Amino acid sequence: MTATELAPAKVNLHLHVVGRRPDGYHLLDSLVAFADAADRLSIEPSETFSLRVTGPFATGLMAEPDNLVLRAGRALAEAMGVTPKGALTLDKRLPVASGIGGGSSDAAAALRLLARVWEVQPKPDVISAICQRLGADVPVCLYRQAARMGGIGEIIDPVPALPPAGLVLVNPGVAVATPAVFKARTGAFSVAADLPDTGWADAGAMAATLRRLSNDLQAPAIGLVPVIGDVLARLQATPGCLLARMSGSGATCFGLFGSSEAAAQAARDLDQPGWWAWGGGFFSAARF
Ligand code: C5P
Repeated sequence: MTATELAPAKVNLHLHVVGRRPDGYHLLDSLVAFADAADRLSIEPSETFSLRVTGPFATGLMAEPDNLVLRAGRALAEAMGVTPKGALTLDKRLPVASGIGGGSSDAAAALRLLARVWEVQPKPDVISAICQRLGADVPVCLYRQAARMGGIGEIIDPVPALPPAGLVLVNPGVAVATPAVFKARTGAFSVAADLPDTGWADAGAMAATLRRLSNDLQAPAIGLVPVIGDVLARLQATPGCLLARMSGSGATCFGLFGSSEAAAQAARDLDQPGWWAWGGGFFSAARF
């Protein structure tokens, strides 16, 4: 029997760098949402523990000697005192190293899937320690709902449900190294955003708030990878686009639209050779 988990794309609707720890990691404030675009992780019974990667972005992961999915599985098995087993298949549909948390979301999906099939229930502090060891974005990806992210990624606070909105994701086919972007950031730190406690009535109201905020990694990322500026200009010029911004450390940028239909149309218009463009809505676990 095959069991499957979805690993949706993470989108940083704003991302303020609010400080730096003595160890060099940056303190962040971010409203994180998840898109309906997802990698798929499935498992079939096997006495050994293995991973096969398929899908349009599989080649981007071939060079990796030890995928985050396998590391997540081994860490869970070790913490719970079980032998890791199962033949995993990762259907890689999201671009790699692109600011939408692909690897982190895959690792989080592995933790959810393997806890289910191995029938283990790790305590919150155990799972939280594993997540933090795997990467700063893994805790929020395990949560997999819109959330306010703080600390270096380990603080996850619930937020009111986001209003229905359309989301376009565009990646220009250039991988970006996260440490290089953080290193290129200069100037004063930002303050945490002031967001309404009650959420927003519609996508337009949400965009109006978000327009006053920023992704502090966007300018340094454009400095390193100028095509990100072209992606943002194309998104901004698309009819119906309420806000265009880079996600995470890039290079994927998102556009906020009034509806999934408008976003899907915009993605079709933005598609060009070498670019990846997706349009839809926010992720909803309830539909799967
Ligand atoms: O934790 P993760 O592997 O995703 O982070 C990759 C790199 O990004 C880190 O080694 C660090 O250089 C940078 N980073 C940071 N502050 C964060 C998250 C990541 O400086 N909050």
